[in-house]
Amino acid sequence: MNVLVTGGSGFIGRWVVKKLLDGRYEVCVLDDLSNGRVENLEELKEDQNLKFVLGDIRDKEVLQSVFKDIDICIHAAAAINVQESIDNPQKYYDVNIDGTFNILEEARRKDVKVVLIGTCMVYDLTSSKAINEEHPVNPKSPYAGSKLAAENLALSYFHAYGLPVVITRPFNTYGPYQKSDMEGGVVSIFIRSLLQGEPLKIFGDGTQTRDLLYVEDCAEFIVNASFNKKAVGEVINAGSGKDIAIKDLAFLICKEAERIKYVEHHHPQSEIPKLLCNYTKAKELLGWEPKTSLEEGIGKTKEWIRQTKQ
Ligand SMILES: NC(=O)c1ccc[n+]([C@@H]2O[C@H](COP(=O)([O-])OP(=O)(O)OC[C@H]3O[C@@H](n4cnc5c(N)ncnc54)[C@H](O)[C@@H]3O)[C@@H](O)[C@H]2O)c1
Repeated sequence: MNVLVTGGSGFIGRWVVKKLLDGRYEVCVLDDLSNGRVENLEELKEDQNLKFVLGDIRDKEVLQSVFKDIDICIHAAAAINVQESIDNPQKYYDVNIDGTFNILEEARRKDVKVVLIGTCMVYDLTSSKAINEEHPVNPKSPYAGSKLAAENLALSYFHAYGLPVVITRPFNTYGPYQKSDMEGGVVSIFIRSLLQGEPLKIFGDGTQTRDLLYVEDCAEFIVNASFNKKAVGEVINAGSGKDIAIKDLAFLICKEAERIKYVEHHHPQSEIPKLLCNYTKAKELLGWEPKTSLEEGIGKTKEWIRQTKQ
């Protein structure tokens, strides 16, 4: 089977590509490297089954050429920065909505299954309960709004044209290859601060919680959902099923309370107090469950950041 992975040089995409190559699939990566890195695929580049195309999902000609002989498109390419989406919503409309439209149109022409990587950010995040797929949506940023629009567009292609479509909604994902600058994830940022001897900065009082999914578990979920017939036409969450307060996460990573600093929140009004995933559907439909404990995932991430001097 031939699989096209858009955004395959990015953090999650890279692990999806690795999992596919491990399963002996032929993989074509399409990435414009706007946020991905060629180094992310360095370890995999000798694999004969991997092809890389530098290109933009907004470019219809590029899409026409990469969709040749493709069975499945795993669509991970997206602009992903919430604050940037508030400052520059046009980019988020163009890449996340228009770009997805282009993918769907090409998939419709060539009858290719589309697996969309959505996000938990589309949900109403004021809930104090674990979030399942029945939970109401309430996008609070152009990032979340554009991702939800892309999902809806994809589902409309399933209903209107019978195009096989799967919507995956991973919760906060962390692990090796995630950026550790301020655009990266909280786990990588804390680990980098620890290794560089800097304070671990917590915005607000640190009681806000996150459900942290280790990236190899996330990739396994996406690949499983891509090949499982039961997932077609479905929206499926993936998370660890446990949430942790940011102050407890900082202590788990650092263990020295005096190095943890509380700083004023830039946007306290948009802080999400609790994020917890209910992944029962993924378990029942796909037999998927996360395997990596937070301690183990932090250990692997720390080792990678140390080795690669991120
Ligand atoms: N990181 C998370 O915690 C998380 C959680 C849930 C969902 N997601 C979703 O997972 C997907 C991957 O996210 P990520 O964290 O790996 O981000 P990432 O930025 O590392 O990966 C996205 C990739 O898409 C590429 N890209 C961006 N615009 C493009 C364009 N116009 N044409 C071609 N390629 C383009 C980037 O260069 C990058 O390699 C995104 O769809 C994101 O919304 C991420």
